[in-house]
Amino acid sequence: MRFTVFVTAALAAFTMSVEAVRNLQKFKVQTKVIEGNRKFDGLWASLYHTGAGTADVYFHNNRTAAFSAFLNHTQFQWVYTGVSQIPYALNLQYQTYAAWGPLEVSPGYGSDYYGKGFVFKNGNQIVDKFEEWTGWLVCDWWHQVPQLFWTQIGAKVKVIPSCAKVQLIART
Ligand SMILES: *[C@@H]1O[C@H](CO)[C@@H](O)[C@H](O)[C@H]1NC(C)=O
Ligand SMILES: *[C@@H]1O[C@H](CO)[C@@H](O)[C@H](O)[C@H]1NC(C)=O
Repeated sequence: MRFTVFVTAALAAFTMSVEAVRNLQKFKVQTKVIEGNRKFDGLWASLYHTGAGTADVYFHNNRTAAFSAFLNHTQFQWVYTGVSQIPYALNLQYQTYAAWGPLEVSPGYGSDYYGKGFVFKNGNQIVDKFEEWTGWLVCDWWHQVPQLFWTQIGAKVKVIPSCAKVQLIART
């Protein structure tokens, strides 16, 4: 009996290990809710056009329609279907005296600090090692769809009902 339990536990640990996503390897981004509104769980990231070459990251439930992205070392690049041959980088935008701030996708390889800290954790979780970043937040917001935000250091984030703290998982 004890042996069976042990084997089952070992198997579970084995199947839970994830293969690490490699540098430059393409993936789609899926949410995993860790606190707050569960309706934001398992959603896929796409880009919401906001201007010439700029976009916000938003989420829906259609994997096929999700945009592809990759990490180029610490730069988070989107494969934007608008104009090819132009790199599009994800950048945090600092919001003064706020608990969380927006992000912007814009042409280039990511601005210093705000676009140069993205790394994989535990194989396929995307985090930001930038010192002011404390986590990801998804909220129903100004586009009236779930939208990506980041929580900022120094604030105690109270997760309001229209938001959830999430992990971003790279799915290859
Ligand atoms: C998902 O997206 C694909 C590609 O845009 C589209 O062809 C398909 O109809 C969508 N599926 C649903 C259920 O909306
Ligand atoms: C990776 O980023 C560097 C700039 O930091 C750029 O020169 C290079 O072309 C990028 N590679 C890809 C595949 O986008």
